[in-house]
Amino acid sequence: MSDIGAAHQSVLKQLEIIEQIDGAKMLKAIEDFPDQCEEAVSLARTFELTLNLPEIRSVLICGLGGSGIGGDIVKAVLGGEADFPVVVNKGYGLPSFANGTTLCIFVSYSGNTEETLACFEQAVRRGCPIIVVSRNGRLADRAVDERIPWIQIPSGLQPRAALGYLTLPILVCLERLNLIRDVGSDLAEATRILRDKRESWWRHNIIEQNPAQMLAMKLTGKLPVIYGSEGAPEVAALRWKCQFNENAKIPAFWNVFPELNHNETQGWEQLRETTASFSLIILRDKADPDQVKRRIKFTRELIEEQFGQVLEVWAEGESRLARILSLMYYGDFVSTYLAILNGVDPTPVQKIETLKKRLKD
Ligand code: F6R
Repeated sequence: MSDIGAAHQSVLKQLEIIEQIDGAKMLKAIEDFPDQCEEAVSLARTFELTLNLPEIRSVLICGLGGSGIGGDIVKAVLGGEADFPVVVNKGYGLPSFANGTTLCIFVSYSGNTEETLACFEQAVRRGCPIIVVSRNGRLADRAVDERIPWIQIPSGLQPRAALGYLTLPILVCLERLNLIRDVGSDLAEATRILRDKRESWWRHNIIEQNPAQMLAMKLTGKLPVIYGSEGAPEVAALRWKCQFNENAKIPAFWNVFPELNHNETQGWEQLRETTASFSLIILRDKADPDQVKRRIKFTRELIEEQFGQVLEVWAEGESRLARILSLMYYGDFVSTYLAILNGVDPTPVQKIETLKKRLKD
């Protein structure tokens, strides 16, 4: 049997025992993601959103990790089209500009993330209009106390697997409050593409025809470095990195064009023996301006020999939302298959939980 044939066999063997390795069913959550997106939109369209808004001059989205990335997505989707700044905050302190004209959206799946709670209290004190997106926890309790609109999302998922619930309601709320245009067609396109991609990436598709399984196989034993250009690929690159960390439990790093051309590009010169086991994954977007496409081409030529392999993944869709989610969705599958191939349960994030517990005690 050829090497590649043997590798396929071993992948298939691992995939046959998916249920054993993936005890808490991360793969199922990922396979269900297009349905989750649809549910999230209908939840956000129907919950009671009573908010007396003054003139809104900025939108601030606070959240960490798998909950915080929803803010990054919204910021990227609205980049260049909203007539107010969208700021994402991932710390303990509310920025000094936040006041009664800043719509603050607090996103935390557990509702117990201390940084998000600290910002929430500051926003209440400053009289900011607030919306909460959470499953329950202290954040939800406080929203109820303060009569703040709270979108209650379903339980039973890891925060990072609840991306649809944590992200799409923000867009829908902004639309319902007439702060942004109608996003209905973007949401419909994104969901259609996700469904389509699911057909080729889910476990039912055999490995030879399954690009997500093939890519996971190529990444076994490699350290991923993910690059994306400013905008849609940038936020997807962050998600790929975090999913490699949390699902596959491996180190991974990311960076963004054009900034990386002014520093990191030079770093791919020494330590060849170490970087030979790195894989560079470049997330591509047909909507990138020509000059950015030239940058990516020349950068690749300059640095590719330092890497064990260089791969490119293209976004699909016309709307920014579809392009971001199509890229992210691929990374969700790849990182989960990679975990399974390595015999690692993708769901638990013990180090993160231990750290939170130590900080709380
Ligand atoms: C775990 C995950 C984490 C959490 C983060 C914040 O699946 O993705 O990054 O999202 O620790 O916790 P929450 O989302 O509960 O506010």
